[in-house]
Amino acid sequence: MAISFAAQTGFASAAPTLLGRKLLETTDLTAEELLRLLRLAQYLKVQARSEQRTLLRDRTLAMLFEKPSLRTRVSFEVAMTQLGGQVLFAQGGEFLVGTRESPEDAARTLSRYVDVIAVRTHAHEPLERFAQAATVPVINALSARAHPCQALADVLTAQERFGSLAGLRIAYLGDARNNVAASLAEASVMLGATVQFGCPPTHRPSESYLHKLTTIGAPSGGTARAFTNPVRAVRGADIVYTDVWTSMGEERYRERNDAMLRPYAVTEGLLSFAQPKAIFMHCLPAHRGEEVTAGVIDGPQSAVFDQAENRMHAQKALLLALLTELKGLPV
Ligand code: CP
Ligand code: NVA
Repeated sequence: MAISFAAQTGFASAAPTLLGRKLLETTDLTAEELLRLLRLAQYLKVQARSEQRTLLRDRTLAMLFEKPSLRTRVSFEVAMTQLGGQVLFAQGGEFLVGTRESPEDAARTLSRYVDVIAVRTHAHEPLERFAQAATVPVINALSARAHPCQALADVLTAQERFGSLAGLRIAYLGDARNNVAASLAEASVMLGATVQFGCPPTHRPSESYLHKLTTIGAPSGGTARAFTNPVRAVRGADIVYTDVWTSMGEERYRERNDAMLRPYAVTEGLLSFAQPKAIFMHCLPAHRGEEVTAGVIDGPQSAVFDQAENRMHAQKALLLALLTELKGLPV
């Protein structure tokens, strides 16, 4: 079944609001809510900045990061600042979910000070406990399981380039069990794309997860499958996506990952099996000569800096949706 016109346009009436909600995984959103956020992000991307200066006046975002970040940290800070709000940031030893005090106590305390909290953690479970106890919206700024903010920017970029995700073929090469792969796949199938993982059996999503993706995608015709042969995953794809072979916190597996994932590196040769107009995507940071060649990531098919820019626009939309009733905005 195709997604309704109302959902595609984002102008359906009586829409459920995101006000006060949390975003820990892409599936915390419905397909319709995701499309609305994308529409708002597109609007904010071209809106005069002078018109945005007071939208989140007197609101404070706390960003609590257990792991390093460039894009997520800076794009959230700039988004919040341009919307008239304030940001505070704590990293590493200053903030480790569940070490100095329970996730619940930290969440309840912070909820008395700030309006929204973005957290980057190792394990996902303490983040769930934190979000459950918080009385303000909590955003997953990357956990071992999910990176939903990245997925928002990814589908925004795909929508900009192709008009819609419906019917697109997206090949994801490399560690198909990681956070970026999961959130990308969930968002993509929700919007009607086919996701083709190219990975060895060691890095293949479980059959139950592939089944879950197909179930999530069913209303819009989205589906997911996995191939051991990288060429089969990439053949005919509109988008070829990869991420680092070893995610933060997984360094003990680096040697094994390097050995197992080398055949899945995105090279000019592999990319040539995709559609002639295919784009290359990567969440960044990237390692040239490992998961992608310099020729591909710095080449004409690469969309990686559009993706990075779109982090900011998508997160502006998210912050506004979580913190306001979006009065006067096109949703
Ligand atoms: N893509 C991404 O999340 O980048 P950072 O780790 O730099 O935030
Ligand atoms: N999968 C990577 C994404 C970094 C943005 C990691 O978790 O390190």
